Amino acid sequence: MKRYFIHTFGCQMNVNDSLRMSEVLSQMSYAPTPVPDNADLIILNTCSIREKAEDKMLSALGRYKPVKASRGALIGVGGCVAQQEKDKLLKKVPYLDFVFGPDNIARLPDIINRVSAERERVVETAFVNSEEYVFPRADPETSRGKVTEFVTVMKGCDNVCSFCIVPHTRGREVSRAFPDVLVEVADLAKVGVREVTLIGQNVNSYAGGISFAQLLLRTAEVPGIERVRFTTSHPHDLSDELIEAFRIQPKITPHFHLPVQCGSDRILKMMRRDYTVEQYLERLAKLREARPGIAVTTDIIVGFPGETEEEFEMTMKLTEQVRYDNQFSFVYSPRPKTGAALREKDWGPVPHEVKIARLERLQKLQRRISGEITAALVGTEVEVMVEGHSRYDPTKRFGRTPENRTVNFDGDAPAGAFVTVKVERATPNQLAGTQVALLKPPTVEPLPVPVGETPFHAVAEA
Ligand code: 5AD
Ligand code: SF4
Repeated sequence: MKRYFIHTFGCQMNVNDSLRMSEVLSQMSYAPTPVPDNADLIILNTCSIREKAEDKMLSALGRYKPVKASRGALIGVGGCVAQQEKDKLLKKVPYLDFVFGPDNIARLPDIINRVSAERERVVETAFVNSEEYVFPRADPETSRGKVTEFVTVMKGCDNVCSFCIVPHTRGREVSRAFPDVLVEVADLAKVGVREVTLIGQNVNSYAGGISFAQLLLRTAEVPGIERVRFTTSHPHDLSDELIEAFRIQPKITPHFHLPVQCGSDRILKMMRRDYTVEQYLERLAKLREARPGIAVTTDIIVGFPGETEEEFEMTMKLTEQVRYDNQFSFVYSPRPKTGAALREKDWGPVPHEVKIARLERLQKLQRRISGEITAALVGTEVEVMVEGHSRYDPTKRFGRTPENRTVNFDGDAPAGAFVTVKVERATPNQLAGTQVALLKPPTVEPLPVPVGETPFHAVAEA
């Protein structure tokens, strides 16, 4: 039997795509290997959201070159860099065998056969038309033993944010029909999954037959499902109906990731985000009124072309004002063919050192706020869904609160159980404590393998 190794970069969409690739490969009698050195096939599932992600994948490719030289392994690049660079990648990397886009995963058997039988170098990066697009159906057996899973509800993005490459790499929005989503969720629940995260680049504009809010409500009603999460949302189409869903369905977890990007209306306009800071805050206030205590996280870009010191201060002020539970912040990275990259010279690029200094200030502020929020939880009891053993200490358990805070704790509950944990210590991003009660046992007998250990290809590099 031949062996494959997949190295995943980027977001949850990519992690999910890697899982689909592994299913396709198993049908071709390939088995996974946890180390690239003895692989016959190496696939890099790539991300191009920022230049750094691309650089990382190029250096990883270099590390795999000897495996090709020593055992003739085939090497392929999939994902967003593949979609963006297409045949240029074959020219750039002479030892690369094939390049395929996110829409072409189902074509892998054909691609691999052509490469191995005919020694042809293959590029498959055509987008599939919206009407013809078929969402790959996850094999629930690959989820047996896991307690939390991702379910794709849409792909692509029709927004026009001027910094973003995603519309170029993932194509137009296509929504998955809601009965398909619900069947997949039910299948997952049957193998023991208790939490699902509905994923898509822009889930608020879901159009698979019912509204996204209704999809969340229907998902929450699937027997065995206790928690429903989703990502990612665009603030401009965060509907009242979605906010209402948070009020009426407690299984929709109290966590909202709502990327704001920056705190200046002028920059938001240049980013083509289609909302003002005031409108964003109005949505957030409504959400917090519907679900008091909801955790709010966001994405921020600092150093967008033309961003002045005053405008950056507005992002700092907004961060203080919202008191985010957490923030993912990045320095602006110009991406090929995007509106902002094309206009960067006119708008005035922000010098690299200035961007880094702003990022450090913002991250320091966020660490302080996150630290204050988690410190206030010390002494309280929180509900945790056990995901498995702690990564740091195998004698401890690991899980998450409904607000998506990670908790490492002393206790004996198996993966899939719900427990209460008394919080004894906190860092800005983690809680630690001791199990005090078992709330609910798992729905299926847990596997002997610690569930917290995600398969190697399911962990993506940022
Ligand atoms: N430069 C820096 N950060 C970016 N993001 C998207 N495009 C870029 C870019 N060109 C960030 C945004 C988005 C997150 C996933 O990545 O904040 O929400
Ligand atoms: Fe995901 Fe965007 Fe990176 Fe593609 S470019 S892997 S869609 S984050």
